[in-house]
Amino acid sequence: AGSGKFFVGGNWKCNGTKDSISKLVSDLNSATLESDIVVAPPFVYIDQVKNSLSDRIEISAQNSWTGKGGFYWRNQVGASVVFVSVFCNFYSRIRGVEQLKDLGCKWVILGHSERRHIIGENDQPDQVLSSAVHWEEGCVCLKRGVGVIACIGELLEEREAGKTFDVCFQQMKAYAGKFAFSLVDAVPSWDNIVIAYEPVWAIGTGKVATPAQAQEVHVAIRDWLSKNVSAEVASKTRIIYGGSVNGGNCAELAKQEDIDGFLVGGASLKGPEFATIINSVT
Ligand code: G3P
Repeated sequence: AGSGKFFVGGNWKCNGTKDSISKLVSDLNSATLESDIVVAPPFVYIDQVKNSLSDRIEISAQNSWTGKGGFYWRNQVGASVVFVSVFCNFYSRIRGVEQLKDLGCKWVILGHSERRHIIGENDQPDQVLSSAVHWEEGCVCLKRGVGVIACIGELLEEREAGKTFDVCFQQMKAYAGKFAFSLVDAVPSWDNIVIAYEPVWAIGTGKVATPAQAQEVHVAIRDWLSKNVSAEVASKTRIIYGGSVNGGNCAELAKQEDIDGFLVGGASLKGPEFATIINSVT
């Protein structure tokens, strides 16, 4: 662990029922937890979690769209409730950062690989499902004081072809271009951006990156930030790892100098194990 306070996010995806979430919340409320902690419940349970979870833990949305940017979406403002039903098998989606704020969300996750590779978002601005739209969404969120957990990561075939850095840098470029643009307005700050490196081959597979593999990419991302944004942003920005993190492997990963936290899927659904991961750096 290196920059800033260790940051751990629990991405609950579309898991849970009112009862199981109530149990998870009560486990987290009674645990002694270090680190900055964020949980991203399914859209339909955000309100329940906000109303029952300790304020010690912040709430994130799993995605956000305010309807700005992108020629296709410009025509769709007002009709986007469809995304809650169409996409919620993969990822909950809510329209409007103002609504997210109203629900108590302090963060949004953007650019998750399941959006890129299942739903088909990419970095091309003229595509119907363009993540470029979401980088603009990131600016919208930042300007309204909502932090962004910006995900990047390579597919297995990209890693095997030696393209890991190229892919991650390209994804960073798409974010940083937009975020730098947003900084022109002098409101947002990189303090409210966390980069989540999630190699796609490690997500939900039980095949965690080795500490060395993760560290190698994290340090490269930090170096990229230093060269392309600023040395200060590079040293302050938290770069967290996601992909099959669990109670057994978190401590070794957390020891790596450039791993500043985790984004956890499956293991964040088990309160005691998630608590172990949250406290792995202490
Ligand atoms: O966003 C976190 C997620 O993609 C990692 O999932 O289940 O491999 O921890 P998991």
